[in-house]
Amino acid sequence: MDLGLDGRRVLVGGASRGLGAAIAEALVGEGARVALVARPSSDLRELATSLGAVEVGVDLADEGGPTAAVERAVEALGGLDGLVVNSGGPPAGTFGQVDDATWQRAIDGTLMSAIRLVRAAEPALANGRDPAILVILSSSVREPIPGLVTSNALRPAVAGLIKTLVAEIAPIRINGIAPGRIDTARIRTLDRDRAAADGTSVEEVQAATRARIPLARYGDAAEVGRVAAFLLSPAASYVDGVVLPVDGGMIRSLP
Ligand SMILES: NC(=O)c1ccc[n+]([C@@H]2O[C@H](COP(=O)([O-])OP(=O)(O)OC[C@H]3O[C@@H](n4cnc5c(N)ncnc54)[C@H](OP(=O)(O)O)[C@@H]3O)[C@@H](O)[C@H]2O)c1
Repeated sequence: MDLGLDGRRVLVGGASRGLGAAIAEALVGEGARVALVARPSSDLRELATSLGAVEVGVDLADEGGPTAAVERAVEALGGLDGLVVNSGGPPAGTFGQVDDATWQRAIDGTLMSAIRLVRAAEPALANGRDPAILVILSSSVREPIPGLVTSNALRPAVAGLIKTLVAEIAPIRINGIAPGRIDTARIRTLDRDRAAADGTSVEEVQAATRARIPLARYGDAAEVGRVAAFLLSPAASYVDGVVLPVDGGMIRSLP
């Protein structure tokens, strides 16, 4: 099947590593032209060079970051047909551990950056070809994750935003992906933190996690990248307002 992404112009947030990088790789593999957004780093520069992508070194948690990122991407690509709303995950902690400053950091990085990115990109997308937005969420939109209260509170807010925008920004399509446990730098850090908190080893934490996943393994970022490319593509032209788990069957709740 031809996804129809050839020549499509896509801004990908949080794209110097992990899920964003894998999504960018899948899109470039389908012939899309991509702008990679992350805070400036050698990783971002090297990935942009190797993919032939536009490098946009911006902090998406800053108030003006999303607008600056969109402006630079639109200028470099000559417009926008797709947007991937993605950035670093919110800080970990239980309700008792998260103070106001940490909540604010989570709100700015996860909720406000999504709102601002969509707001900034909408005019360009409205002039794009078969425009589509994809938001990277978390399994916490279906099932709270122990020790990640910021995600449990803020990801459902973003899911509510998606369902609202479906009606307000059509014909721009907007969908989400809820990753389960995908092997990235963030997940390795969360596993290390969990092991330290529980006084156990990382291997034991990983084994307990695998035991909860019917496919009995962590996902590979490329497995998210392929689903993302499909949802952003004209091949998914009648898919709108969906939050699709990519989780090896981990989420037990009904859809
Ligand atoms: N991996 C999973 O299994 C999983 C599961 C559920 C949810 N998620 C969510 O999916 C998203 C991506 O996760 P990941 O595993 O790919 O994380 P990751 O490996 O830590 O990658 C995060 C990416 O976002 C960039 N980033 C972080 N803060 C940023 C900021 N303020 N402005 C711009 N870019 C920023 C990072 O680059 P710099 O730090 O260099 O800026 C990096 O490119 C996160 O929100 C995470 O919570 C992931």
